[in-house]
Amino acid sequence: MPSDRPEWHGGPSYGVRGTIQVRTGAGNEPGTWQSWGMAAQINPSILSADFARLAEEAKAVEGADWLHVDVMDNHFVPNLTLGVPVVESLARATDTPLDCHLMIEDADRWAPQYVEAGAGSVTFHVEAAAAPVRLAREIRAKGARASMALKPATPIEPYEDLLPELDMLLIMTVEPGFGGQAFLDIMLPKIRRTRELISKHGLELWLQVDGGVSASTIERCAEAGADVFVAGSAVYGAADPAQAVRALRTQAEEATARASWACDH
Ligand code: DX5
Ligand code: ZN
Repeated sequence: MPSDRPEWHGGPSYGVRGTIQVRTGAGNEPGTWQSWGMAAQINPSILSADFARLAEEAKAVEGADWLHVDVMDNHFVPNLTLGVPVVESLARATDTPLDCHLMIEDADRWAPQYVEAGAGSVTFHVEAAAAPVRLAREIRAKGARASMALKPATPIEPYEDLLPELDMLLIMTVEPGFGGQAFLDIMLPKIRRTRELISKHGLELWLQVDGGVSASTIERCAEAGADVFVAGSAVYGAADPAQAVRALRTQAEEATARASWACDH
């Protein structure tokens, strides 16, 4: 893998098993597609940011792949954050695409509104969706990436047949509801089993982890098979959030390069 990340133009393109190609030509020039090892995307969670300064806090992590937006309704989880109007404003205030993680009941009803609000990826919890296949199709049809989340006690196995309907699967590595909790190591086997299912079916499905992801846990997640990493306190609690994003990405990419799941591409 090259030691310096090349300058990207037009965003990355993902191949099978997380390989990443980037276009290095500027403007409308054709440019060249350059292979950039295994993808590791870092999504800072604004749950740990200052909610009175969201636009500035988004700018503080420019260079992040996505901005992770935690929507909580005080019913599905015992905490309350923000909703559609804030997502609409944030989408206008930043060029970083929004990764909306809905920790809300009645996801079937609300998730499509977050696509309309400007989210590039919308994650619903399977525990809160009455018809996850219909909902994933609706999110995709409206133009966003469709993603499904599993709480720690929810197994992946019953959902194997649904995976082709999704662009990303989120494995919670804490009980959802709050930032700053300790990473649950007991989720690592579920991450490994999910990566095996993705490989078995040859899917281009991103595997996201969320909760307690930091410099001391990200390598374990990457080695187990995650390729999208949400980090709240580890990014916004750092003196230089943008540097924290770069450091986490480097750690994750190096751990991925060592991982057996990524060796056979
Ligand atoms: C928790 C949220 C997370 C949270 C992670 O329910 O879904 O996105 O912001 O925060 P950290 O990285 O501090 O555990
Ligand atoms: Zn989240």
